[in-house]
Amino acid sequence: MQRKLMHVGPSFTSYRVQMAGVSENTGFASPDFLEAMKNSLEGLLYVAGADDTYLPFILPGSGTVAMETVTSIIPKGSRTLLLTNGVFGDRWIPILSSHGLDLDVLSAEPGRSVSLDDVRKKLDTGRYQNLIMTHVETSTGVRIDIEKVSKIAREHVDRIIVDGVASLGAEKEDIARLGITAIISASQKALGAPPGAALIVVSRSALDHINDFSYFFNLKNWITPMERYLEAKNGYLSTEPVGVVLSLSRVFSDIRAAGLDERIEEHRRLSLALNEGIEAAGLKVLAERDLWSNTVTAVLSDHADEIVRGAMDLGIEFATGVHPKIAGRYFRIGHMGYVNDFDALAALSVIERAAAKCGEKVRIGDGVKKAQEILYDLTKKNGGGQM
Ligand SMILES: Cc1ncc(COP(=O)(O)O)c(C=O)c1O
Repeated sequence: MQRKLMHVGPSFTSYRVQMAGVSENTGFASPDFLEAMKNSLEGLLYVAGADDTYLPFILPGSGTVAMETVTSIIPKGSRTLLLTNGVFGDRWIPILSSHGLDLDVLSAEPGRSVSLDDVRKKLDTGRYQNLIMTHVETSTGVRIDIEKVSKIAREHVDRIIVDGVASLGAEKEDIARLGITAIISASQKALGAPPGAALIVVSRSALDHINDFSYFFNLKNWITPMERYLEAKNGYLSTEPVGVVLSLSRVFSDIRAAGLDERIEEHRRLSLALNEGIEAAGLKVLAERDLWSNTVTAVLSDHADEIVRGAMDLGIEFATGVHPKIAGRYFRIGHMGYVNDFDALAALSVIERAAAKCGEKVRIGDGVKKAQEILYDLTKKNGGGQM
């Protein structure tokens, strides 16, 4: 049986996106690749809501490569306030520490977000020059309000860095309007391309002072290559993941054709149907309701790992829980990339069956019904439907 991928990354991609990456043998200096790289860099600026005061970067790698590389814009001797709502927020701690960068951490319990009051109090001390936050925390499905946090932070710090790995392309980032200095992401999550590319967008003014650590992980060395790629010229520094960029370019063309706001709304609509569907079936969503994200739903259950195994047999791959405080007691649904209404309905049907089979008290059919109603109502209202 061919399984459906509703993991939290790599996410479900389309046949056309996959084929774009494998249909040709393509060299890194070929016109096809250079055109795809230019289109992807421009697309990256578009989905981030950046203007020409920002520079986009596409590097071989992953989200963690992007995290590590963007820290080169944090000056030695400055102090960072890190807001973390889970495992991927916590990942910044060893990254910054390994480069000798000072930080303080504000963290939240699983399913919750750090409070704006606490952020304000910390920033009021005047000790911080940088703030880092994760837009959607993939380990819990919690979305932080980057607009409200940025508004407070702009008055206090010189640099705001956002991890958009599980959000870029499916949540509103709007970095120029919000005064965000840099956003990082990766090809395989909310964008729905195959894994292999690290994505970064940085304000050009932040590129004037870059730390002197590392060769590969230092943005300074990637500025000229990216400027050249933006002109469709060869910018080789290290071999780019050619096939991934060809696929990514197709994703950005798809997003432009659909419209970014429409794509974000599609994700919101699917998320609402899935989250409401889970609760209607009698299960509980981990994230507090006002923190539900467009891309990841974490579901509490004492049978979580068993449900994930059962769902795999029924044809859908979900993700187990990774937050150390509640691992084994929840699982995660990824609804990003190219998932559609019928994937959401199938996901709920599979979860209801797998949960019932392992003794969870679920109301078979209620989750699917609720989601079906929401999707139908919102389709009527928006006139939309499928990505
Ligand atoms: C929010 C977030 N940040 C960073 C990462 C790390 O990305 P990668 O696994 O591509 O290195 C992940 C991966 O799941 C993530 O979800």
